[in-house]
Amino acid sequence: MPRASAPGKVILLGEHAVVYGEPALACAIDLRTTVSASARDGPHRVNGQPLSDHHHAHLAHAIRALWPADRPGVDFTTEGRVPSAAGLGSSAALSVATCASLLALRDGGVPAEEAVARAAYDAEWGVQGGRGSPTDTTTCAHGHGVLVDKAAREGLLWAIERGPRRWNLHHFDVPDLRIVVGNTGKRGRTADQVAKVARFVGKSGFAMEVIREIGGLVRDGLSALRAKDAERLGRIFDRDHNLLTILGVSTPELDRLCQAARATSYGAKLTGSGGGGSMIALTDKSEATAEAIRKAGGTPYVVTPGGAGVRLE
Ligand code: MEV
Repeated sequence: MPRASAPGKVILLGEHAVVYGEPALACAIDLRTTVSASARDGPHRVNGQPLSDHHHAHLAHAIRALWPADRPGVDFTTEGRVPSAAGLGSSAALSVATCASLLALRDGGVPAEEAVARAAYDAEWGVQGGRGSPTDTTTCAHGHGVLVDKAAREGLLWAIERGPRRWNLHHFDVPDLRIVVGNTGKRGRTADQVAKVARFVGKSGFAMEVIREIGGLVRDGLSALRAKDAERLGRIFDRDHNLLTILGVSTPELDRLCQAARATSYGAKLTGSGGGGSMIALTDKSEATAEAIRKAGGTPYVVTPGGAGVRLE
């Protein structure tokens, strides 16, 4: 019975702008989701319940795409430590672990990381109604750090295209960073936030200027990361958070947690799609930053960025 696990992720810089061709930097975190799959006589089941398109949308998409209709049913067991709808890649990790366990059950052996990343993006694309970039699914499949860019450069893993859009996904070595995540506890749905930004972009040229400016911050952030310049990177986090606020995806809770974390950190920003979900702070005082986030009403996680991607357990 194949059992696969995949990590959650944080986006360091570039969320939302990456949907419009700007670069982004993301990395795996050490909270993982596990899915096991075994063949059964009878219809598909998830954690003992019948597979439902509504409750198990990612699994249902993966089954339709990957599982031959003439084969018997699949019994899935899922177990997740990535909080859901928190901007930490819970649905991407679930898609990745599901596709990996299903491919292993169908074909035997260990599926190629690229095949898993592509299948998981197809599932996310289906669930989100054709929105969003492959940043999350590639990061949860590959692990480590992932740099997404319009141009292909050194470290290219694979390229994924949707219509006129093409994302080149690269391996990125994450330097030793201390990141504290603060979860607001308010659920943020990626598809809704991506649609909200799309409406703003459709109405106003100014939104596109903000997106281009976020792209510029990602390029600056990349050079700060390579120089291991935490102070500069922290200032870039703060500016990125302001630009995301202008795009309309921050919330009073996210602003409050970022503000609280700044006293003991280099900088803080929302991470992922926003509209709820989580923020991250770059700090070398993890405990003090975690305490400040807790006092401001959030749930802190001190995470280690850049760990392993998908694996069969
Ligand atoms: C969500 O984690 C990241 C977004 O940029 C959407 C996407 O890239 O698909 C908001």
